[in-house]
Amino acid sequence: MKAIILKKYGLPNNLKIEEVSVPNPKDSEVLVRIHSASINDWDWGLVRGKPFIIRLLYGLRNPKIKIPGVDIAGKIESIGNKVRSFSIGDEVYCDLSDSGFGGFAQYVCIPEKSITKKPVNLSFNESAAIPHAGLLAYQGIMNKGKLRAGQKILINGAGGGVGTLAIQMLKQFEVEVTGVDTGEKLDMMKSVGFDHVIDYKKVDFTKTGKKYDYILDTKSNRSAFKYARSLNKNGSYITVGGMLNRLFEIQLFGSIISIFSDKQLSVLSLIPNKGLDQISRLVEEGKIKPVIDGPYQFDEIPDLIQLLGEGKHKGKIVVEI
Ligand SMILES: NC(=O)c1ccc[n+]([C@@H]2O[C@H](COP(=O)([O-])OP(=O)(O)OC[C@H]3O[C@@H](n4cnc5c(N)ncnc54)[C@H](OP(=O)(O)O)[C@@H]3O)[C@@H](O)[C@H]2O)c1
Repeated sequence: MKAIILKKYGLPNNLKIEEVSVPNPKDSEVLVRIHSASINDWDWGLVRGKPFIIRLLYGLRNPKIKIPGVDIAGKIESIGNKVRSFSIGDEVYCDLSDSGFGGFAQYVCIPEKSITKKPVNLSFNESAAIPHAGLLAYQGIMNKGKLRAGQKILINGAGGGVGTLAIQMLKQFEVEVTGVDTGEKLDMMKSVGFDHVIDYKKVDFTKTGKKYDYILDTKSNRSAFKYARSLNKNGSYITVGGMLNRLFEIQLFGSIISIFSDKQLSVLSLIPNKGLDQISRLVEEGKIKPVIDGPYQFDEIPDLIQLLGEGKHKGKIVVEI
C-alpha cells in the first residue's frame, strides 16, 4: 500500500511517499481501507517534533510513529477473530490519536473499541473532517449540560475545524454566538451560523467590555485573568488548544479563579472517540455538516500539513486517499 512516511522530525517536505506492507489486524482489531483523511494540528506537531512534549510522547530523537494522520473514514476490509460489533464492508470513521496514528495510508488496523459507523448521510470526505475537531467541540461545549436558550457564547479561533462544527452544535440551543478569527474567514463564519464575528487583528474581544456566559477557545492566546474578565457571573471558559505555556498558566490560575469566584476556567483533555456516536446522530438529524477545505490528492499531504501550520485553511483540510 502507499503511505506517507515520517523518518525524522523536520519540515513537512521531508515526508516521503513509500510502498509498505498492508498491516494484519490483531484479534480485537479491524483492517480499514481508508477512503479519506483530514489534516490536524497533531500532524503539524508530530512531523516537526514540536512542541517538545511531542518528543516526550513519540520519541526524543526520532519519531516512533512512522505514518502520521489521525482522522479517517473508510470501509472495513477484514476483521480480527474477537471483533463482534463490526462486519466486513461496514463504513466507519475514527480518531486515531490514541491508536498509533497511521491515517495517511491506504490501510490501517484499528482497535474495535475506537471505531464508529460513519454517518449514513455523509460522504467519506465529509466524514473524515469530523472526528478529532468534532470531538473537541463536543467535549468542550456540549457534554456539560449547561447550555440554555438566550446565553451569550464566544468562540475564539472560530474559523477552523473546531469552531465551524461547534457553532452548528450550539445553534440547537437558540444561543447567541460570537466568533473571533481573521478577517478573511468572517464571511464563511457567518454562513455557518455565527451571529456576530470579530476580526482578531482589529479588535481584542477581552477589551470591548462585552461579557459572555461561555467561552470556547482554540488558541489560548490571553491570560486567564483576561478571559475571566470577559465572563458573566457563573460563566465558564474552556480551552481546547493553544501554546503549552498558556495552557499550563490557564490550568493553574484558572483553578485559583474558579475557587475564589463564581467563574469556571478549565483546559480540556480530549478523550479520543468518546461521543463520536452522539456526533453521528447530530449529523444524521441534519444538525451539523462539516466545512471542508478540499478534497485534495494524496501526494499533496506534505504541502497541506504546511498549509495548516501556516493557518491558511478554512474549516477542515480533506484528502482523498
Ligand atoms: N485538548 C486536547 O486534548 C487537544 C487535542 C488535540 C488538539 N488540540 C488543539 O485543538 C485545537 C484545534 O482547533 P482547530 O482544529 O479548530 O484549529 P484550527 O483549524 O487551526 O483553527 C484555529 C483558528 O484560529 C485562528 N486564529 C489564529 N490566531 C488567532 C488569534 N490570535 N485569535 C483568534 N483566532 C486566531 C486561525 O486562523 P489564522 O491562523 O488563519 O489566523 C484558525 O482559523 C488546536 O489548538 C490543537 O492544538 C487539543
